[in-house]
Amino acid sequence: MNDLLDRLRELLLDTGYTIDGVRERLGDVAATALSREETVPALRATGQGDPLGTLIRLWWLGAPVEARGAPAGLPLEELAAAGLVTVEGGRVASTVHLQPWETGGYLVSDRKVRPGDPALRPDHVVGAGGASANLAQLASRRPVGRALDLGTGCGVQVLHLNGRAEEITATDVNPRALELARLSWALSGITGVEARRGSMFDPVEGERFDLVVSNPPFVISPAGRFTYRESGLSADDFCRDLVRRAPGHLAPGGTCHLLANWLHVDGEDWRDRVGGWLAGTGCDGWAVQRDVQDPAEYVELWLRDAAEQGTPRYRELYDDWLGWFESENVTGIGFGWITLHDSGSLDPVVRVEEYGLPVELPVGGYVDEVLGAITTAHRLTDAQLLGARLAVAEGVLEERTGPPGAEDPARIVLRQTGGLRRSTRVGTVEAALAGVCDGDYPLAPLLDAIAELIGEDPDDLRAKAPAVLRPLIAEGFFHISTG
Ligand SMILES: C[S@@+](CC[C@H](N)C(=O)[O-])C[C@H]1O[C@@H](n2cnc3c(N)ncnc32)[C@H](O)[C@@H]1O
Repeated sequence: MNDLLDRLRELLLDTGYTIDGVRERLGDVAATALSREETVPALRATGQGDPLGTLIRLWWLGAPVEARGAPAGLPLEELAAAGLVTVEGGRVASTVHLQPWETGGYLVSDRKVRPGDPALRPDHVVGAGGASANLAQLASRRPVGRALDLGTGCGVQVLHLNGRAEEITATDVNPRALELARLSWALSGITGVEARRGSMFDPVEGERFDLVVSNPPFVISPAGRFTYRESGLSADDFCRDLVRRAPGHLAPGGTCHLLANWLHVDGEDWRDRVGGWLAGTGCDGWAVQRDVQDPAEYVELWLRDAAEQGTPRYRELYDDWLGWFESENVTGIGFGWITLHDSGSLDPVVRVEEYGLPVELPVGGYVDEVLGAITTAHRLTDAQLLGARLAVAEGVLEERTGPPGAEDPARIVLRQTGGLRRSTRVGTVEAALAGVCDGDYPLAPLLDAIAELIGEDPDDLRAKAPAVLRPLIAEGFFHISTG
């Protein structure tokens, strides 16, 4: 089998069946239409019978092709024997979705369902998509020893971990997922992945990892109909349990990144709900709500995802789901990132925030710094802060706005040009500090100088400054210079 997959990979690469090759061939219009699940423009762009067009039709669009139009060297008989295609009456049809991925490898999953297709099988293995890319972008880029991908599906996170982790373990409750994931890894030339079947952390009982990533079955519904997205546990309990159990599988200094959904329940602040999951884990935690949907939007999204719009059961499924949300007093469903870090501190910190704006990618390139800033701000005493040499972070800009001709600005904003690209409104003291803090001098004498300039009592300013500066440190506008 591995020999077949090696030859297939060579042929896919030689034919230009790569992310860039497909993108170029489809063009913007067909690619955008595909993101709306409309295949007609893509079928038109690939109907010339040439090798690349034929491969895109067969494996990306899931359309049957003429066997005689298949690229020379495509081992159809062997692929049919391996169950990857069927050949009948001179026509070849794929049994799987085989897509190039941004890491340069390939992913094998079940065929995408589109409106009008037969219903999904309950053990459907979903292909990589936006959420997969989201988690891959979030995960720390730090090289690690042992990494775990929990709920590997088609194996996409392993493609991202490969080369960064010395050992990779991937788990899934669905045996079919592991079967297809193994194909993905072999086709991507990745060897040595330890694949284990089982639920949640059961397959790695008693083991610890330096990095844990999971794009879990986070969808919240009244019935666990599809393993690829629903755990079968009630409400958002699966994500809660993942958060609570993850620290028990982190090695000292280890990090865990999860995608999650959480409920907004009438009368409860969602921050308390998610913060409650993180509190008591013994880890530093950072949860970010990237989006929130109302119950109807959410139900529509996931019924569409399983191509159930337009089916006879659509209204009934929609109604049941919405009715269940109502009975649980659900007002919305949050989507976001959760990161846990086992820093070994006896005083762990949890930050829960809403932040939906575009960020610099990959977040994994600076996520360790984000966590570091949150913990530094939390752990510094006022006295330590006043004695510390503060530096304004690289790329922070100051924006001053106000009525034309006014002597003083009405509003001063500090804006990050990189990283999370946060912006925050500040007062004159913080703005003045941003202008002079280059890490050379401790904070206290700088505050004294500013107090003199603006005519304020230096002792008052020293007393007030830590409370104002701590959030700016936590959010990465200032950092403590160690140089
Ligand atoms: C949303 S898919 C994620 C697939 C892939 N890791 C990605 O990033 O695209 C969730 C995966 O979790 C698996 N899963 C569902 N229930 C699980 C459980 N109780 N324990 C472990 N994995 C589970 C599903 O089979 C599915 O492959």
